Formats: sequence, C-alpha cells, structure tokens
Amino acid sequence: MINKKNRLISYDDTLQLVGTGRSAFVFRIKSTNKAMKIFFPNFTHIANEEEEIYEMLQYISYYPSIYEAGANYIVIDFIDGQTLFECMTYGKVITSVHIKEIDLALSLASARGLNPSDIHLRNIFLTSIGEIKIIDVARFRQTKDCVQWHNLKKAYQRHYVKAYFPKKISAPLLNMIAILYKKGLIPFYKT
Ligand SMILES: Nc1ncnc2c1ncn2[C@@H]1O[C@H](COP(=O)(O)OP(=O)(O)OP(=O)(O)O)[C@@H](O)[C@H]1O
Ligand SMILES: [Mg+2]
Repeated sequence: MINKKNRLISYDDTLQLVGTGRSAFVFRIKSTNKAMKIFFPNFTHIANEEEEIYEMLQYISYYPSIYEAGANYIVIDFIDGQTLFECMTYGKVITSVHIKEIDLALSLASARGLNPSDIHLRNIFLTSIGEIKIIDVARFRQTKDCVQWHNLKKAYQRHYVKAYFPKKISAPLLNMIAILYKKGLIPFYKT
C-alpha cells in the first residue's frame, strides 16, 4: 500500500523491502530467491516493457531470470549482493576484471539487438560470490544512445584506479557527484 506521494505505507509479512527506485519498490519474496518489482501507479506501463526485455536476455547469466509479470509488477531472481553504489560506500574495491565483465554483459545484450541504457551504479550488482549482475533493463530498447557507462568507465580509468583516489566514499558525497554530473557541472566530462 502506498500513499498519494508514492510513499510506502505497509506491505505483506511475506515480503522484505530491498530497494526503491525512481519508478518502483523492490521486495524479496521471503524464503525464496525471487524479487518482485512493483511499479508506482504512473509507471505501470514499464512492467510489460521490462518483462519483454528480460525475456530477450534469457540465459545470459549476467541478467536475472524472469518468472512472472502482471499489470504493475515483474518477478525476477533476487540478487544476493551489493550494488556498485553500495560497494563504493562500503569500500569494496571494484576491479578491472569487474569492468570487463560488465562490458561483456552489455555486449551480449547488444548482440541480441538491444541498446543497453541507464547503466548506473545502482543498476549493477557485485554478488556475494563475486559475479556481476545487471538489473533494471526497461530502457534497453530505447533508440537514443546512453553514455552513462562510457562515462563511468572513463572516471574509473582516469581516477578510481589511481592510488590517490579514495576507495570508500560516503553516500551523500557520491549522490552529490551524481547530481553535479546530471547537471553537466563536472568539467572532466566536457572533453
Ligand atoms: N533483483 C533484485 N535483487 C536485489 N535487489 C534488487 C533487485 N532489483 C532491484 N533491487 C534493488 O532495488 C533498487 C531499485 O530497483 P530498480 O533499479 O529495478 O528500480 P527503478 O525504479 O527502475 O530504478 P531507477 O531509479 O534506476 O530507474 C536497485 O537499485 C537495487 O538496490
Ligand atoms: Mg534502477
């Protein structure tokens, strides 16, 4: 149950809230390895789009499998791990091998005729057993090219890997950098 401002008021005992995005709440269905993404009322049309894209990505291990979908929800694998955003706030080091795996995951999606988009730190997971998983694929059929992953890699290579760069950054600071990036205020990206 949500209120008019899309704030979560209550949910069933069989669910555990594991994430909130700009368009949905995500719950783990307790005692299973499945997650249910329930879209806010204004975003329900995305359920069907995201379902179809997950179907296109079937059997690529870098993406969760899809089990079920309805008018305002999808059910996919629950991912036991941390998003890259969380990794950075906890100080878990992201290696060049992880970056290569993400590149491979995205190229496998491209090979299936998709256009990977909206690739940001909260949509990429590093699992508890060290695998990469990518979620939130709803925009993979857009035609506009998304430069987010290109820019994240550029920042990784030019800054993150350097000894001076702190491997643990507070969430408020990381969010601030994301806001400045969105506003086009980071000079590094203008070149
Ligand atoms: N399958 C999953 N297993 C574990 N956690 C998940 C899963 N799917 C989503 N989450 C968590 O929920 C958050 C929101 O999910 P998701 O990115 O799908 O929502 P969204 O509203 O489409 O996001 P965005 O704001 O990026 O558009 C994720 O950043 C992640 O922390
Ligand atoms: Mg997301």
